[in-house]
Amino acid sequence: MMNSPKTFRVKSFGCQMNVYDGDRMAELLGSAGLTAAGDGDEADLVVLNTCHIREKAAEKAYSDIGRLKRDDGSRPMIALAGCVAQAEGAEAKARSPMIDIVVGPQAYHRLPQMIAAVGSGGRPVDTDMPAISKFDALPARRKVGPSAFLTVQEGCDKFCTYCVVPYTRGAEVSRPLADILVEAHALVDGGAREVTLLGQNVNAWTGTCGGLDGLIRALARIDGLERIRYTTSHPADMTDALIAAHGEVEKLMPYLHLPVQSGSDRILQEMNRSHTAESYLRTIEKARAARPDIAISGDFIVGFPGESDEDFTQTLSIVDAVGYASAYSFKYSARPGTPAAVMGDQISRDIMDQRLATLQDRIIAHSLAFNRSKVGADTQILLDRKGRIPGQMIGKSPWLQSVHVVTDATVGTMLDVTLTSAGPNSLGGALRTAAAA
Ligand code: SAH
Ligand code: SF4
Ligand code: F3S
Repeated sequence: MMNSPKTFRVKSFGCQMNVYDGDRMAELLGSAGLTAAGDGDEADLVVLNTCHIREKAAEKAYSDIGRLKRDDGSRPMIALAGCVAQAEGAEAKARSPMIDIVVGPQAYHRLPQMIAAVGSGGRPVDTDMPAISKFDALPARRKVGPSAFLTVQEGCDKFCTYCVVPYTRGAEVSRPLADILVEAHALVDGGAREVTLLGQNVNAWTGTCGGLDGLIRALARIDGLERIRYTTSHPADMTDALIAAHGEVEKLMPYLHLPVQSGSDRILQEMNRSHTAESYLRTIEKARAARPDIAISGDFIVGFPGESDEDFTQTLSIVDAVGYASAYSFKYSARPGTPAAVMGDQISRDIMDQRLATLQDRIIAHSLAFNRSKVGADTQILLDRKGRIPGQMIGKSPWLQSVHVVTDATVGTMLDVTLTSAGPNSLGGALRTAAAA
């Protein structure tokens, strides 16, 4: 038996949706009477909000659990949440007896009851995907930072052959328009000036106002909401209407994260991606026609089973053809239960390492070129944190670049700057004052 916890800490790994879920769990625990543990303080309850996407991410959950044991042999109450919890369910407890609670991404609104059950000697597991949405059971949003996440769509029906997400997040579900509008208003009232709409396939969102473009147009009418972003999109759901919104809705930022994964049609087919290199490039072309300055970002996997040197060369070619402003690249990780894990011709670690290094060099060169192309531009940045040097602040440009600037302005300020220097990961800016204009 464990005492009922008074303080908690939520640690989130993985994607932005996990960050969002972590915030919602913290809000829920707060409204259930628990207090967030201060930095460096021990918490009575630790929620590990885990990611299952690659083996390393999943293993991290277990190494973190081990580290929660205190010097005196005691430990906090431990809740395993997120996608590892969903994927492993009760098995997680067999692997690590320190886990008290296992709660999946669609069931975490029940955390308070599960904590109470631990208090009376239980060790609850809940990986249900209930028909009644967790969103209806969660407390309203509270104070947030200047840039907030808002989950509008969850789950995935695409079943890429390497990916666990359709199993850990379930089928594609869109939140109703009215609920999203309520949450967006609450976020703006709580201090947000920018909202990033989240979904595993966010551009598959549908509702009474049509597709994601309709949702964006509805949100753009909210006073005080100044910037709208969305992520992650699937190329197959990139409609002309959504692309058109990029040219028409001023609050929609010129940034599109559109993972391609590979430049080889043969590999794309093996991945069950439903787009080709050419159809992907056509989509990018249309996006640029609608919004010429749009920053394109992507995801890549190297070393998918059967990937030849020629396939990989085609990946480098598509990187050059798109000219990514930024991109994430990963070594293929075989995930239990996915079709690709049992495909023949798994690629060696050495080859994956080499390909990843080559790809990342290429991506960095394009990021640097993109960032340099903005030097001299007058733009606005939304300050989101302090810089390392005293007096320095960091904000985001419309193209999602981090911009460093010396200013007395505080977090949440929308600042007029001139971009003055560029590196691969960030830019420098100088204040644009009335006198300088
Ligand atoms: N549509 C999702 C994608 C989640 S996974 C979203 O909401 O973000 C993010 C990226 O991880 C994918 O685009 C892919 O590039 C990579 N990824 C997924 N499964 C992987 C695996 N088994 N091995 C390596 N990378 C993987
Ligand atoms: Fe995974 Fe593919 Fe779905 Fe993205 S679209 S979450 S990569 S299955
Ligand atoms: Fe990871 Fe789950 Fe997100 S597996 S990437 S936390 S949807």
